[in-house]
Amino acid sequence: MRNIATAVVALLASAGLFLSSFPATAAEVAAAPGGVTIPKGYRNWQVVAPSQRDDKDEIRVILGNNIAMKAFRAKKLPFPDGAILAKLAWKRAKSAEFNDTFVPGEPQRLEFMVKNAKKYAATGGWGFGRFVNGKPADEMQHGTCWPCHEANVKGNDFVFTRYAP
Ligand code: HEC
Repeated sequence: MRNIATAVVALLASAGLFLSSFPATAAEVAAAPGGVTIPKGYRNWQVVAPSQRDDKDEIRVILGNNIAMKAFRAKKLPFPDGAILAKLAWKRAKSAEFNDTFVPGEPQRLEFMVKNAKKYAATGGWGFGRFVNGKPADEMQHGTCWPCHEANVKGNDFVFTRYAP
């Protein structure tokens, strides 16, 4: 009897270990230093605009959730609480099928700006989160977000991207 009990305990323990080695949900594992997580369903959001950066040889696309898209289209600033912007970046790769065309290559990083005027009052009402391979970047990297957005786009609620109709 004791042996069976021991075996059951061992089995439960290993099952627990097994389960805990899986990331439960993206939101649970991936909180950036400021508390920003990867929002569920972000990949179904609408496109604000694409962009590219030569020095990094990257293609990006900026997406917005419904609250953000509504504000963009109404040209309303500042963005209301609940607005979230996403930036997806890939290496720029030459198309294998068509010369002179560039397409997204290796994914580089995923970034979010979450509007919550009260919670993120110290950074223009925006919470910043950067994720590489699904994992949040460190505190040092997150220290760079606000200074650059503040220095360059103060007049646009600290958002660089303009809506591309
Ligand atoms: C040195 C300047 C700089 C730094 C540092 C920076 N950004 Fe940006 N960010 C930009 C520029 C420029 C854009 C415009 C789009 C692009 O670059 O493709 C942008 C765009 C964004 C966007 C899309 C909304 C918008 O403003 O256009 C998000 C989201 C974003 N950045 C998040 C972050 C996060 C999170 C960090 C820190 C981990 C960060 N950024 C650090 C310059 C910066």
